[in-house]
Amino acid sequence: MSNSQTQIELIQPDDWHLHIRDGDVMRDALGDTARQFARAIIMPNLNPPVTTVDLAKAYQARIESNLKSLGINGFTPLMTLYLTDNTLADEIQRAKAEGIAALKLYPAGATTNSDAGVNDIKRCYQVLEVMQQVGMPLLVHGEVTHPDVDIFDREAVFIDQVLEPLRKDFPELKIVFEHITTKQAAQYVRDASTSGKNTIAATITPQHLLMNRNAIFAGGIRPHNYCLPVLKREEHRIALLEVATSGNLRFFLGTDSAPHAKGAKESARGCAGCYSAFNALGLYAEAFDSVGKLNRLETFASFYGPDFYSLPRNTKKITLTKKAQNIPSEQPFGDATIVPLRAGETIAWSLS
Ligand code: DOR
Ligand code: ZN
Repeated sequence: MSNSQTQIELIQPDDWHLHIRDGDVMRDALGDTARQFARAIIMPNLNPPVTTVDLAKAYQARIESNLKSLGINGFTPLMTLYLTDNTLADEIQRAKAEGIAALKLYPAGATTNSDAGVNDIKRCYQVLEVMQQVGMPLLVHGEVTHPDVDIFDREAVFIDQVLEPLRKDFPELKIVFEHITTKQAAQYVRDASTSGKNTIAATITPQHLLMNRNAIFAGGIRPHNYCLPVLKREEHRIALLEVATSGNLRFFLGTDSAPHAKGAKESARGCAGCYSAFNALGLYAEAFDSVGKLNRLETFASFYGPDFYSLPRNTKKITLTKKAQNIPSEQPFGDATIVPLRAGETIAWSLS
């Protein structure tokens, strides 16, 4: 495959990390995702959060009813629960029986709607024990929240203070280090010893493959490029692109597309989150193409995610074409509007 390639056929990808919110705005987010992806891991950080199987089932029913009314067939939401200090071990057994895909660990205060998150991971040890036993993955927002830790160091410190001790205590627990942003995280996941088992993986977003932290400040503050974990230096972007395109099965696609209304982003305390669902696959293709590695896009986008979650790979094929797509300067988001990633610019690749 050469760098001048203009078309690529892939098994249809899935999005292993997605926020679609709830209510009216969910419809707009769902439509964009379902155009490209067959399945998505749906994040549980609603307000109030999705902490129980009953809440997840009710959320799933609302998603399915929206899919129906949008006339979308063939898109499957994979539901998750929000881990708290008070999650009960029994709830994990139920979750497993009811087809819940994973639990999400938000350190309390780390990001949007994380106030109900975990204050001390030790309080969750009984729950983690059951998760390890039944093979329920733990999806980790990997940042410490202590205000003394510099925001650009929070992920690297999390590895030493939380993740490594956690993996020592639960060597067989399946963990996804979500939306990694640093070379420390890329190296940690790449080199982690797992006794031959598939117990650690990482998702990577399109914004962290395509931008460094300069993008938040280019010509003035750019709230639409602000997400958490925040964009890092160029050396980190290069390390992420390197592992994403390396053909290593521990790294796979998770957009972390996280819609916030325009006014909530463009404010004195703007929310964290980039809305990439509009053409996420085009963004990933651009990133892989930039290093001549389009031939590695399919395994990253379509194979390694389902393999990690022990789900079947998709069978339908899609085609991406190197044809610039204009990204609108804003798009509807319920009663409000949303400014997508790359608003008013173009993305080099798009779905045919
Ligand atoms: O930028 C982010 N936005 N990071 C997260 O971890 C959460 C997300 C959201 O829900 O808006
Ligand atoms: Zn997220």
